[in-house]
Amino acid sequence: MISEKIKKLNRRAEWLKFLILGVIIVSVGVGAGVAGVMNWRKHEAEIAAEQRERVARRKIMEREQRERMEREEQERKERIEREEKERMEREAEARRMAEERKREVERKEILEDLEKWQRGMAARVGKFTGKKLVALTFDDGPNGVTTPRLLDILREKQVRATFFMLGRMMQNFPEVAKRAEMEGHEVESHTMYHNDLTKLSREGVESDMQVTDGVFLKVLGRKPRLMRPPYGAMNEAVRGMVGRPLVYWTVDTLDWKYRNAASVHQRAMAGVFDGAVILMHDIHATSVDAVAGIVDGLRGAGYELVTVGEMAAAKGVKMVPGGNYYGF
Ligand code: NI
Repeated sequence: MISEKIKKLNRRAEWLKFLILGVIIVSVGVGAGVAGVMNWRKHEAEIAAEQRERVARRKIMEREQRERMEREEQERKERIEREEKERMEREAEARRMAEERKREVERKEILEDLEKWQRGMAARVGKFTGKKLVALTFDDGPNGVTTPRLLDILREKQVRATFFMLGRMMQNFPEVAKRAEMEGHEVESHTMYHNDLTKLSREGVESDMQVTDGVFLKVLGRKPRLMRPPYGAMNEAVRGMVGRPLVYWTVDTLDWKYRNAASVHQRAMAGVFDGAVILMHDIHATSVDAVAGIVDGLRGAGYELVTVGEMAAAKGVKMVPGGNYYGF
């Protein structure tokens, strides 16, 4: 009985031993398996990280390459733009030089014409030597009605005057301008549009001169020799551009303001002196009305009535481009 029990116990112990052994083996196996899996997973993560890093590196390289290409493209564009700009600047400079040369030639022609004109004038003003002289000047015309009436009066009185005409008005009444010149008056420039030249750009002044020259050439077959700046407005910069003697006045009749023949007459007579230049406007009927009386009054006071060119020549004044002349 006892041995039966011992045997039974022994078997149980044997079984337990196997069980424990089995558990140990299984545990070791599972442990190794888990470790292996963990190891594998770790490896897997490393590979993934490496791969991510590689991808990131490739992206950086690609971006850098793209940026380099963009930079090169940008530089190429800038170079082309720069070269284009330089080329245009060179062309503009060449054009400017050509225009400058052309202007120089024109200035020389204008100067030669002015000198020739003054020489001719000097040759025929001997009769005025030692006389009291006065020049009547008329601005802003020609007008289609008042200017022909003035020309009739001047012809009647045998007086030669000086007209500073606007190119725009000469275009409107070319026949009147031609008649004034034909009848021995001096027809000169008062610009194209009566702009204050000191308020125009350099291009504006040059363009005004060119257009006015064109009108004079078309209507009278020559360019103007003298210029009276509108409002008498002038500065150093414009003086250099005009290239002609600038003629102002010494007696302002203010005829544009007081539209009254008696007032015009009174102011002309009150301000006059030997060498005076009297300013009037042939576009006002009241000014034209005053002319016959002024001519008689001046002659009565011992004056000879002459043109601006005649007076300068008679007084021995050689007018030069850009020179300011108020009286002589
Ligand atoms: Ni004027």
